[in-house]
Amino acid sequence: MRYCIVNRQGRSIVLIGMMGAGKSSVGRCLHRRTGRALHDTDEIVVTNFGMSISEIFPKFGEQRFRQAETEALRSLPTTKQAIIVTGGGIVLRNENAEIVKRLGVIVWLDGDEETLFARAFRKRNRPLLQTKNPRKTFSQILDARRPLYANTSVLTDEELAVAILAKVTRMNPKPESPIPATAS
Ligand code: S3P
Repeated sequence: MRYCIVNRQGRSIVLIGMMGAGKSSVGRCLHRRTGRALHDTDEIVVTNFGMSISEIFPKFGEQRFRQAETEALRSLPTTKQAIIVTGGGIVLRNENAEIVKRLGVIVWLDGDEETLFARAFRKRNRPLLQTKNPRKTFSQILDARRPLYANTSVLTDEELAVAILAKVTRMNPKPESPIPATAS
């Protein structure tokens, strides 16, 4: 799995990415390691409706689910340092992108398509994959969404430089010795 930090505003860590990217597992690890509160937009929606997502879609339709997803995002605190796990479709609405940016550092989890699909399809509980050809459907959704995940926000040159330097420093903590001047 790859990850990409795409924004640094706000205080929380917000995980975005396709179904099967591992957002919930990574969210739980972050929660365990940091002790920060863990919020999951899917879980908030499920609690508010009092039924599972596979029941919400056929009963109320995708648009109602998307609305509930936006309301779940809006209900999250912008001033607390939390771990926020989002549903894969969170990037479909522009207003959601604005809300997640205010919430914190956005981390996009991605992976190769086969792995993502295998993980997303394993439990047979994703309503969007209840089609004649789930593999093809998944591919179409992924193609349409990857640019949205990438564009939810982009790093400025300055942020990119800081992220690269932070990574390099962790890999090679000893400062390089200065190159000795050659005697002329
Ligand atoms: C969806 C992803 C699901 C869930 C719903 C719709 C999507 O969450 O919100 O089935 O549109 O990609 P996960 O990303 O946790 O599977």
